[in-house]
Amino acid sequence: MNDLMTQIEQNKKEIESSVVTNKEELEAFRIKYLGTKGIVKAIMGEMKNVPVEQKKDAGQLLNEFKIFTEAAFENFSNAVESKADQIDFNMDLSLPGQPINIGARHPISIVHNKIISIFQRLGFSVAEGPEIEDDWHNFTALNLPENHPARDMQDTFYISQNPDWLLRTHTSSAQIRAMEKGELPLRIICPGRVYRNETISARAHCFFNQVEGLYIAENVSFADLKQTLYFFVKEMFGENVKVRFRPSYFPFTEPSAEMDISCLICGGEGCSVCKRTGWVEILGCGMVHPSVLDNCGIDSKKYTGFAFGMGIERITMLTYQVKDLRLFSENDVRFLKQFTSAI
Ligand code: DAH
Repeated sequence: MNDLMTQIEQNKKEIESSVVTNKEELEAFRIKYLGTKGIVKAIMGEMKNVPVEQKKDAGQLLNEFKIFTEAAFENFSNAVESKADQIDFNMDLSLPGQPINIGARHPISIVHNKIISIFQRLGFSVAEGPEIEDDWHNFTALNLPENHPARDMQDTFYISQNPDWLLRTHTSSAQIRAMEKGELPLRIICPGRVYRNETISARAHCFFNQVEGLYIAENVSFADLKQTLYFFVKEMFGENVKVRFRPSYFPFTEPSAEMDISCLICGGEGCSVCKRTGWVEILGCGMVHPSVLDNCGIDSKKYTGFAFGMGIERITMLTYQVKDLRLFSENDVRFLKQFTSAI
């Protein structure tokens, strides 16, 4: 027992005078005292030589020694950790730092902002609506009653809990919401994400972005529509771009048209992008159908209006000559970092 006490006292003194300044020394301390072959275990092993009547006191002494050693280790460990957090004043401040990657606007956002700013200069303001819509705002109010064949043009995602809810297939639904408010004249653009149940390919995705426009006042004519879109195209693509309108069909406009611009890649001579026609389609448009105005409580005898809608992805692909629409949603930094400045 006396032998044991002397050993413990000696080790305690040694521990008290130990110097631990780094992780290596800390580990050496742990192995020496607290390791499986360390001093604490070794002294404990000597318990078997202590006479039975002294075992209780010896056990207590040993336990105290173990706690003492563990506490010392804990203190050294904390000291080493906090030292690691401190600034190393010997470091070489002339070394180059870690490069910080600078973010860039997404090409869709760049084009989205540019489209909006062009129309804002013509007095249009931005109106937004929900992405989860009801049947009325997305279809019925736009002259697309249930079972109308034109609904097939926009293959739709429905919400299973409530078949009246769907993911909007165009932002025309936001136009209906704006018209229902009844504040006239109305001159708005509706940007936003839309969804269609389409097979994903280089030219189609199950979601994309649109900007739709609407102007309702007294005496708005097709000439106003043409002039507005003409201005937009010149601002967006430059003075030399040619424009043509082709008759088309949309249930919510009458007459309806599709607008093409001369191909930016081949300048109108014919290439694979314009399918050798020299023209690429960029938007749909027309005069708002009187029943759509009536559906929204607007007097169609007094007011007329025009509307148009375009896909931002399509405009972006033409602007930057991007051939595959999937690149816009893959988040590949090698693609995205090419768009570091606004156009
Ligand atoms: N909503 C149509 C679509 O998503 C695009 C469109 C065509 C919008 C004509 C209009 C319009 O406002 O007048 O395919």
